[in-house]
Amino acid sequence: MDPYRLPRTVVPSRYDLRLEPDLSTLTFRGVETVAITVHEPVREIFFNAIELAIDEAVVVDARGREQRATATLDETTERGRLEVAEPLAPGAGQLRLTFRGTLNDKLRGFYRSVYKDPTGVSRTMAATQFEATDARRAFPCWDEPAFKAVFAVTLVIDPALTAVSNTCVVSETREGARKAVRFADSIVMSTYLVAFVVGELEATDPIAVGPTPVRVWCVPGKRRLAAFGHEIAVASLKFFEEYYGLPYPGDKLDFLAIPDFAAGAMENLGAITFRETALLVDESAASHAELQRVADVVAHENAHMWFGDLVTMTWWNGIWLNEAFATFMEMLAVDAWKPQWQRWVAFGVSRGAAMSVDGLHSTRPIEFPVTAPREADAMFDVLTYEKGASVLRMLEQYLGPETFRAGVHGYLTAHRFGNADTGDLWAALGRASGQPIPAVMDGWIFAPGYPLVSAAIERGELVLRQQRFTYLREPLRWWGAGAAGASTPARWQVPVQLRLSAGGRDTVERVLLSEAEVRRPLPAGCDSVVVNEGGHGFYRVRYDAELLGRVLSRLPALAAIERYNLVNDAWAVTLAGLMPLTDYLDLTARFRDERDKNVWTILIGSLAMLNRLATPDARPGLEALVRDRVTPALTALGWDARTAEDELTRQLRGDLIRALGTLGNDRRVQTEAATRYDAHVRGGAAVDPNVLPALIAVVAHAGEPARYTEFLERFRAATTPQEEQRYLYALTAFPQRDLVAQTLDRTINGEIRTQDAPFVVRTLLMTVHAREQAWEFVTRQWDTMDRLYPKHGTRRMAEGVTGLMMPELEAAVHRFFQERRIEFGGKVLEQYLEQLRVAVAMREREGAALAAYVARPGAR
Ligand code: BES
Ligand code: ZN
Repeated sequence: MDPYRLPRTVVPSRYDLRLEPDLSTLTFRGVETVAITVHEPVREIFFNAIELAIDEAVVVDARGREQRATATLDETTERGRLEVAEPLAPGAGQLRLTFRGTLNDKLRGFYRSVYKDPTGVSRTMAATQFEATDARRAFPCWDEPAFKAVFAVTLVIDPALTAVSNTCVVSETREGARKAVRFADSIVMSTYLVAFVVGELEATDPIAVGPTPVRVWCVPGKRRLAAFGHEIAVASLKFFEEYYGLPYPGDKLDFLAIPDFAAGAMENLGAITFRETALLVDESAASHAELQRVADVVAHENAHMWFGDLVTMTWWNGIWLNEAFATFMEMLAVDAWKPQWQRWVAFGVSRGAAMSVDGLHSTRPIEFPVTAPREADAMFDVLTYEKGASVLRMLEQYLGPETFRAGVHGYLTAHRFGNADTGDLWAALGRASGQPIPAVMDGWIFAPGYPLVSAAIERGELVLRQQRFTYLREPLRWWGAGAAGASTPARWQVPVQLRLSAGGRDTVERVLLSEAEVRRPLPAGCDSVVVNEGGHGFYRVRYDAELLGRVLSRLPALAAIERYNLVNDAWAVTLAGLMPLTDYLDLTARFRDERDKNVWTILIGSLAMLNRLATPDARPGLEALVRDRVTPALTALGWDARTAEDELTRQLRGDLIRALGTLGNDRRVQTEAATRYDAHVRGGAAVDPNVLPALIAVVAHAGEPARYTEFLERFRAATTPQEEQRYLYALTAFPQRDLVAQTLDRTINGEIRTQDAPFVVRTLLMTVHAREQAWEFVTRQWDTMDRLYPKHGTRRMAEGVTGLMMPELEAAVHRFFQERRIEFGGKVLEQYLEQLRVAVAMREREGAALAAYVARPGAR
């Protein structure tokens, strides 16, 4: 028996929950009545609870016998146990509990959030964050996704405050000095989706989508930032009702911005909570990237109202059914809303991020065993979200979008108000398509990794071969390594899409590569083959020299996503030691005319990584190489936005300026950036919102110390969440030791919110000028950080160690984690260490070649 799981002898069906939070004492009192079904005549009832005091417990069984129970709590398993003298009669019964807790500052369970009101006075509100396993911190419950129940919540609060929960308010009544706000019954749902928010909240007017009123909530004074989020909330709700073919399952839909919030957002049914940056934005002053972030997160959480809330995975090993689907649906909805954003091309960057982790020996299958809460938390990663969404996209393209949608509709209909697992999804998609889904899909979900597909021309035939792609030949050797498991057979059912060009005519062909190798004749006169046409496949492509030459000679004929994949795959095989770095650097020279922002993201990203692993003497040469590659594009675009230009081009301009001014250390760009920035803040020349964040970053990088004080002030006085973030991260770009030290101090002295601090430290760990200092700080302050930061905090921060790409630092990282016995659950730490190894190995293998290449004047 797994000690973390609850027995099914007694099962809840309804919670009548009354909570009384007190924002002045930072405590809450609760009373709950749980309708239960007793399946066996037991004398004990198990449930989840942690950091709660249970003052009274009474159990009533099916024969109406009432017994007082003694309650004990076990900290390690986070379980409570009630014991009664006489066995409970099987059948319907009731449990009545009285309990107390504190409104904590760890952004989990029932917690407090602090902010300044428009007059600068500090205010407190209360909010919840329950996923994965923190409902048990707010009220005793069966805190597993398969114990679905109805929730009837009453919040007893200060009459001056507002309370929001999952459903509509049905009554507000005065109770002495307080008011009791009673909410309607929820649908049958999992505990992790329950939410309450209490504070001085403001809402927009509702917009009705059919019977559902949709509102955005925020702390006083920020309502002017709600319109954009509101718009995508409404648009995506309409989109999903149409796509799923099922009405929204709740009675109202609120989107709430919470000043302190650990994750990005949380899909509580009817009361979706967000960190402010992910919901509130001034559309006229935000960059494309900042707007897309809001649209993404809103659409993602909204998609969960069906995928996750209406139908829920049975257990956390199946969390991909929630998160991968919500991510996939997010793309569909945002793409439908703003086709000009080319959302699926940008998704290529996310797919690439998943392939980076999934190319490690320490990757894991999308579905992976989970027992303890920490293991559940470790599942929220790029494999669940981005690999999961990628394989869904691949399947959607393989089956056809309409067939896929029909399968999704069938799945949701069959399991609504219930739980499901991967097999149920395959069954529904199988019914819709008539195809053997498990045969094609199981390898993508239950096996780790993905294939490298090699393409070659041999005797006039196209030959495709698959093998597993990994960066390192061997698994990483480290102290935590278990016995080497049996290596999984490296064979997938790969839906390969090809574009064959012959005499100026293109044909698209589909092949299911299921063996190690397939051969097919080439049409007469075929002069080029693109593998992974359209870019939807979750695999890498490696062309032989002849095919690569042909593809490169027709670069502009490739779609943006195909160019992205070409560069991304070339960079990956370079990191894996399968292609010389000098060849990769030559390749980048062919992209000077590139105008797609996502292709530039991988080009700039690879150069940034080279900058991190370069030896100091190579850096000036590398900076010159960056200028050589990037300058032509910026020259062509110019510094000023043009009227007929699309949003993506404007964002690209910002990205190029940032790359030149920081990575390229381009003095002229730095000077120009400072001039334009100063003119802008003096209220003169308006700067395009896509360029302004880049100007701030470049000015900070140029590093005049007086600017640090100025930017710190602007961080404190910011009037939008986006502005606050720009200046916050700008603080990490100043190279001076004392300024780095100041910024580091601010991550633990309360000046930077704990929701942001781990990410600021991560950035510093990945920045050449600050990383050693940051690492030293982290090793000294680890315990403090662990105490202050929300639960995912140190894990997210520690990802920054992948930036410590020097052999001595790598050794220090290993020593630290080993000595301190730090664990993040799942394979997280092992993945960080393997990524670090890949980078250091690259440095050792290619460092000299890099230095020589960038020193050779003509080569650039
Ligand atoms: N369900 C998650 C929130 C969550 C994440 C809870 C991790 C517990 C642990 C939510 O739907 C989500 O995925 N949020 C993302 C944003 C999204 C747009 C990718 C997040 O918080 O980063
Ligand atoms: Zn999600």
